[in-house]
Amino acid sequence: MPTRPKPAPFAGVEAALGPEHAGVMAALAEGLAAVDARFDAHLRSDLPPVRALVEHSERYRGKMLRPTMVLLSGLAAQSESGGSMPGITPEHVLVGAVVEMIHVATLVHDDVLDEAATRRRSPTVNFLRGNETAVILGDYLISAAFHLCSQLPTQETALLIGAVTTRLCEGELLQLHHREDYSLDDATYYEIVERKTAELVGAACELGAAWSGAGPATRERFRAFGVRLGVAFQIQDDLLDLTGQEAVVGKSVGKDLEKGKLTLPIIHHLRSADPVARGRTLRLLGAGAGAARDARGVLKALEHTGSIEHARREADRLAREAAALMAGDSPALSLMRAAADAVVRRSF
Ligand code: FPP
Ligand code: MG
Repeated sequence: MPTRPKPAPFAGVEAALGPEHAGVMAALAEGLAAVDARFDAHLRSDLPPVRALVEHSERYRGKMLRPTMVLLSGLAAQSESGGSMPGITPEHVLVGAVVEMIHVATLVHDDVLDEAATRRRSPTVNFLRGNETAVILGDYLISAAFHLCSQLPTQETALLIGAVTTRLCEGELLQLHHREDYSLDDATYYEIVERKTAELVGAACELGAAWSGAGPATRERFRAFGVRLGVAFQIQDDLLDLTGQEAVVGKSVGKDLEKGKLTLPIIHHLRSADPVARGRTLRLLGAGAGAARDARGVLKALEHTGSIEHARREADRLAREAAALMAGDSPALSLMRAAADAVVRRSF
């Protein structure tokens, strides 16, 4: 097994931490270690070549945002309800492992679609072993995730995760449909992002609360928090793809432009630029016969219309909206708010 650092909850929230958070942070660290162990145990194939591939894909688990949100939402929902507090339960841990497995499966497949060579500072599976192996490894992980989910005492979680995963694929299909669609609007962008990224984060938060016994209104509020957090996360991800450097971000960058995926800054720019500037940017994007893509030129053009700033403001707005759904004094709730802030401040 490659030595992976112990999963540390929440890079980026350090500034918001006080002594009152020590108990929640310790519970999260213990819970994430249990998620890690459950993930590994469930994916232990008897075939050494399969084990080696799974071990490689485990390098993709970095921030563990989704399992963290399951566990933290579980604690936050308990802090709201008062009464007896079971803390993080085996069901929270299992759901955390399921959402992380689904997430890793989507990344393995995403790197095939994006022809990406690097993720989390490691070569991707498709780069090392080719697309066929990466496609089947992604299938293996998704199948294992639903197998693990079926071990819960009720079907409700599997039903929800199945619906969300189906919508995630729809989001990817919609994105493919709109490749190089230079008239893409905000509404369609948000539709894609909500489905491909945010709804799984929403499900992680909702299920964390649900496995703490939360009722429908609380579950819906936690889901809404997670969806906003997920959209803000993806806007920041898109900004890093556009403006970040591979050495800092730790994965291939510039892929959205290369693959004709229009993200918020580009959409804003094409909407706000005057016709001459718009035409110039379309050529820099590689639209039209004989036009060669020029990523630096595109970035410069985006600065003229304040389009990078616009996307940052949108991510901030969503993070603030998310935080407003988690009012309250408990350490777990204040960490939920800090998480919303951290996803839009991250540089990797
Ligand atoms: C990241 O996009 C990609 C996703 C959030 C979803 C990818 C999903 C699939 C490819 C469908 C596979 C589905 C299953 C169920 C296995 P990105 O390219 O913007 O992010 P990146 O910068 O991390 O590559
Ligand atoms: Mg990608």
